[in-house]
Amino acid sequence: MRPADLIHRKQAGLPIRMLTAWDALSAALVQAAGVEAVLVGDSLAMVVLGHATTLPVTLEEMIHHTKAVGRGLGGTASERPMVICDLPFLSYQCGGDLAMAAAGRVLKETEAAAVKLEGGEAETLQVVDRLVRTGVPVMGHLGLTPQSVHQLGYRRQANDPISQERLRRQARDLEAAGCFALVLEHVPGPLASSLRRQLTIPVIGIGAGDDCDGQVRVTADLLGLTSRQPPFSPPLIDGRQLAVQALRQWTEHAGPAAPTIRPSPAAPHC
Ligand code: KIV
Repeated sequence: MRPADLIHRKQAGLPIRMLTAWDALSAALVQAAGVEAVLVGDSLAMVVLGHATTLPVTLEEMIHHTKAVGRGLGGTASERPMVICDLPFLSYQCGGDLAMAAAGRVLKETEAAAVKLEGGEAETLQVVDRLVRTGVPVMGHLGLTPQSVHQLGYRRQANDPISQERLRRQARDLEAAGCFALVLEHVPGPLASSLRRQLTIPVIGIGAGDDCDGQVRVTADLLGLTSRQPPFSPPLIDGRQLAVQALRQWTEHAGPAAPTIRPSPAAPHC
């Protein structure tokens, strides 16, 4: 799968399914589930590394986890889902050269064929333009952008006409700058639905209603492995409970076998 394949899927009316992965194990699971794209999201900061937000994860850590995801995928190149790696906070906000170096490392050192970055302000558009013109496919991300948690919180975004118009403009600008797809997170469904019709690139939603070209979810949320899931991504199974139950059965039976009574050693002859 390549960026162009995702655009062809939109044109053909075929859904785009994207799940997050953070290591070889989770990559093998989501590939077996039949996704077109695997996102090594910076949500791994919270889901896997135990941070309170996505901000602390480093480029080094993103690369380390993306390499592991690549090792977990099987099949030939054409059978493998496309891998997209999030550019972490501060790897692309400090100017085009640093963004280029960060994205270049991701593409050189890992299986990822594209990067994702958040926002649609003028500085971000410049970075997208630079990356795309240099051969780096870029996926955009608007709406709830967790790297801006200290400004936006985790609330639904674009609830009023002014912010909806701003988001529409940013979406069009990201498409014009060369993004091959756009993630819309936690925005009103009708807004995502109308943008999907306006844009030629796929709109991939999470908490953005059903009428998107594709959907993305954090795998650990779907499996019920995280301690709390966002309202727009309820768990499909109670994975945490199932895992704890199974492991508890094991711990209850693990340990040395019940001692067998052996005769005490005979007293040495003297
Ligand atoms: O980091 C992530 O997992 C994401 C998804 C929520 C889209 O960006």
